[in-house]
Amino acid sequence: MATLVSAAALLASCDSKAPSGGASAVPEATQPKPAESKPAETKPAESKPAAAAPAATPAAPTGPSILIGHFGSLTGSEATFGQSTSNGIKLAISQVNAKGGVLGKAIALKEYDTRGDAGEAKLAVERLVKSDKVVTVLGEVASKLSLAAGPVCQEAGVPMISPSSTNPKVTEIGDYIFRVCFIDPFQGLAGAKFARENLKAQKAAVLVDQAQAYAVGLAEQFSKNFVAKGGTIATTQNYTGGAQDFTAQLTSIRGAGVDVIYIPGYYTDVGNIAIQARRLGLNQPMLGGDGWDSEQLAKIAGDAIEGSFYTNHYAPDQPDARVQEFIRDYKAAFGGSTPDGLAALGYDAAKLLFAAMERAKTTEGKALRDAIAATKDFPGVTGTITIDPNRNATKAAVVVEMSGNPPVPTYVTTVTPQ
Ligand code: PHE
Repeated sequence: MATLVSAAALLASCDSKAPSGGASAVPEATQPKPAESKPAETKPAESKPAAAAPAATPAAPTGPSILIGHFGSLTGSEATFGQSTSNGIKLAISQVNAKGGVLGKAIALKEYDTRGDAGEAKLAVERLVKSDKVVTVLGEVASKLSLAAGPVCQEAGVPMISPSSTNPKVTEIGDYIFRVCFIDPFQGLAGAKFARENLKAQKAAVLVDQAQAYAVGLAEQFSKNFVAKGGTIATTQNYTGGAQDFTAQLTSIRGAGVDVIYIPGYYTDVGNIAIQARRLGLNQPMLGGDGWDSEQLAKIAGDAIEGSFYTNHYAPDQPDARVQEFIRDYKAAFGGSTPDGLAALGYDAAKLLFAAMERAKTTEGKALRDAIAATKDFPGVTGTITIDPNRNATKAAVVVEMSGNPPVPTYVTTVTPQ
């Protein structure tokens, strides 16, 4: 596993300075783990790296380090969400440590696997905050999991930054909860605008994972905006994440004769839906949200996903210099793999946090909270980030098309907030 070896090399400097017996390291990300009652802690890398940082870069500081936490789905049906986010965070840490750290200290990372489960997410954050005593928590990706764990950070006065949870309720938990991504009222608008203006769709079907706050919220926002722009929602069908057979819902959608099928779910289900939709003769474009963003989508769906679109935070083929520099560094660190939007958002969340620590001149909760809240025009890979009074980021969305063989996300257009 080249990816894991590279990650180990990258993170060696964090591992050795963990204050509480083993901060971070490389997730055993590729192997599903058996369920346990406590959150799965990722284990420190076992071997020393083959290659350290390039000779010209200054060594990371050797004194006590600053411990931050990450909770994410490192296994399960959304495993790439947590894995990519983890990689993005680790890249940011290795870069900042190579430049002398933050406030003169190295950054160390403690990470837990949520397995995509809300109960595990809450337990993970309780451990991070109460036992590990991290100064900030990064995560989760899935809105439902951020909603489950956010109150723990809020009550403890430990800032939490979700890189990528887009449901509006996440930051409504309280004044210690932030995100560096846009929210779904905007993402739903972007999808509806694209469907009406670019795809010229008049009638849409919506297929919703009723078990995910993200999917339910995004479906509502898409539908509202699609109708406001003169379109019709011919049918809304539900499923529960993890389902295997979508025949009933897709048959109803076929009967409705729509121009586009909006599926605001996560990639494993979307991949399965795409295959079954094409098999049933549904050849309309499918349109989704950021939950599609995983290289697994094309692996599951193959050709069935070609010619479909989703709204996202970033596209790897954007010519922007910041994006291309990030991709170059990420590929060098992680065995040549192209970062997805989650990796970019994890990287941005960590870097924005480090900048806030420097401005606060402390990692004490309240002061750090205030500094994160004051973030203005931070130059992220996923766009320029200003934290608004509701602790959200106002940013543009991109629309990508799954195109080519095998299909890869390809930049189509940018939708800016009005
Ligand atoms: N926005 C999704 C949610 O809130 C998570 C996600 C973000 C998934 C970015 C993929 C890419 O649940």
